[in-house]
Formats: sequence, structure tokens, C-alpha cells
Amino acid sequence: MSTHIDAKMGDIAEVVLMPGDPLRAKFIAENFLEDPVLYNTVRNCYGYTGTYKGKKVSVQASGMGIPSISIYATELVKFFGVKKLIRVGTIGAIGKNVKVRDVIIANSASTDSSMIYNILGRSMYYAPTADFKMVHNAYQIAQDMGVTTHVGNILSADRFYNDEIDNEKLRDYGVLGIEMEAAALYTIAAKNNAQAVAICTVSDEILNNVATSAKEREQSFKDMMLISLETAIKD
Ligand code: HPA
Repeated sequence: MSTHIDAKMGDIAEVVLMPGDPLRAKFIAENFLEDPVLYNTVRNCYGYTGTYKGKKVSVQASGMGIPSISIYATELVKFFGVKKLIRVGTIGAIGKNVKVRDVIIANSASTDSSMIYNILGRSMYYAPTADFKMVHNAYQIAQDMGVTTHVGNILSADRFYNDEIDNEKLRDYGVLGIEMEAAALYTIAAKNNAQAVAICTVSDEILNNVATSAKEREQSFKDMMLISLETAIKD
């Protein structure tokens, strides 16, 4: 066991889906995996292992934000031999042609978190980057499913409530959307010889004041999950 994950080596698959919300992790395990087994309840941050199309897959809640996902991602790769991490979550769109229910695959994740500064020092503007093969596979799977999908740079922000952020400027520099975890996931995967990608469903258009209805969220969540699970089992 590690400090925040009460499991043994072998309890967790080499590929792990990471939603923020523990109840999402439970829902995914119970509705998309076969024979799911709950391996972690520490802090109610549920982790399950089951199979998808015969292949072992785990789903581990990450909590919200860079400090929280950093704990779970680090423990997964350092103590449980995890090789592939897939963030599944929502994102607020700011990109010009990005609409609610679209999917964003983040091939890079900018951040205003101090994480990069803390790791690499004040003069380094490191670019947290997804694994190309996972991005490529996810994009092809999404295309085959007919889901409107954007691939590009996102912002992993440190604050959800942020009066100072300049969303228009970020849009003008090509940032497609804002979430709160991917930059940490990519940085930790890089350091630990793992592969990572964030596959996010657009829950709201920040600059247009548009949000998804519960029904729309349900369908787009299903699209995101199928793209993520198919990506998880593809070599
Ligand atoms: N900001 C940060 N994270 C988010 C948002 C947002 O507007 N929407 C969904 N996740």
C-alpha cells in the first residue's frame, strides 16, 4: 500500500483511467467494466479494477486540481507499476470553434501552477506534453465514432474561481479550454517513464456563457468514456 492508495502490487492494472470525482470512478467501474473490484476507499477516493473487452483496466479518482492528482498519479506510477494514465474529465472551452459536448484531447497543457517552477527552476518554461501515440489513437477512435474532437493546447489552472485570468488572450494564443489537472499528469508521467493523455468533454463555453444540460452531459460523458476505454486497450 502507499500513503493514499490501499492496494497491493498487482491489484491495479497497468492502464488507469482518472476521473476527478470518486462517484464518477464508481459509475465508470459499475457501468463500463466487467467484474469491477474496489481496491481503494482511503479518503473515499475510490479505485476499481475490472476488465474491458477482456483486458485489465483500473479507474482511480484523482480529486480536483494539481496537488490532488499529483498525489494519486505519483503513487500509481511509483508504487503500483502503472504505465498508462488517462485523465477523463470535463473542461471549460475557450477555443473559437469549440462547443459544448465536443471532446478535447490535450496534446499539451500550459499551467499557471508553480509546479514547473518548483521542479525546474525559474528560467525554465517547460511544456507538459501528452504521449503522441495515445493522442493519435484517441483521435482516430473519436473520428471513427463521429465525435467532434479538437486536439491542442489547454490550460491546467490552479484556480476554478479566477477574476484575474485573461481568457480572451489565452484563446488568441490557441488555448482550447481550461481544466485543472493535465499539466501535472503529463509532467509526472514524463518523470516516471509512463505515458499519459487527457481526454475531456466540454461541459461549458466559458466566453459564451453556455453550459450543458444534464442530458447532454450524460451523452457526451459516454462518448468520452468509450474513446478513453478503447484508447486504454489499444497498443
Ligand atoms: N475552469 C476550470 N476547470 C473546469 C472548468 C473551468 O471553467 N470547466 C470544467 N472544468
